[in-house]
Amino acid sequence: MVTSQIPVITIDGPTASGKGTVAHRVADKLGFHYLDSGALYRLTALSALRRGTDLNDEHALAKLAEHLQCSFQGGDIILSQENVTDAIRAEEVGNTASKIATFPTVRHALVGLQLGFRKAPGVVADGRDMGSVIFPHAVLKVFLTASVAARADRRYKQLIGKGISAIMEDLLMDLQARDDRDTHRAIAPLVPAEGAHVLDTSNMTADQAVEQVLQWYAAVGKPH
Ligand code: DC
Repeated sequence: MVTSQIPVITIDGPTASGKGTVAHRVADKLGFHYLDSGALYRLTALSALRRGTDLNDEHALAKLAEHLQCSFQGGDIILSQENVTDAIRAEEVGNTASKIATFPTVRHALVGLQLGFRKAPGVVADGRDMGSVIFPHAVLKVFLTASVAARADRRYKQLIGKGISAIMEDLLMDLQARDDRDTHRAIAPLVPAEGAHVLDTSNMTADQAVEQVLQWYAAVGKPH
């Protein structure tokens, strides 16, 4: 199958909107590959934090992004032969990822890696700019959102479930700061892509959201 015919489903949305879970399950149901683009920004952030790279040095950060030695093995994420699946989920890494993602050259350095995930029989791509920038011709674009309160609650339960202590007020403040930065940055801001289906999951279970996305996909797959 030529690359341009490989179906792409994009699922974009703010932090803790549940898009990771939904995108993953949709990919599993369809037997598609899964691109967690946020993980690439997190890997770059983790590398920078560990090396003590100046977080304002766009050039140095772009170099790190360009030379990331990473691989995705089943559910595991490997960076330079180390399993960093849990390490990249730390709040500090997420916040740093959001900061360095404002640099155009960092974003540019990660484009090739992301396009490489488009493999047969298809890919579900999860992020902020999947439908607007990376895969503008995706067959289905979804913008998943939820209220700040619902998202903070989900993030809180996720952290506590992993045995990581968390304070709700801090989480709320962090979420709002990240939303603000991701939405208002000059390049590839978080906005629904043209033609995207917007799905508010505040009062939905992950399974209901998955079902809705699969229904939309079945509908676009049919001849008009
Ligand atoms: O989805 P996530 O929380 O793992 O992403 C971490 C940060 O990476 C997010 O706050 C902004 C950035 N990001 C981005 O700018 N573009 C993407 N496609 C994915 C993530």
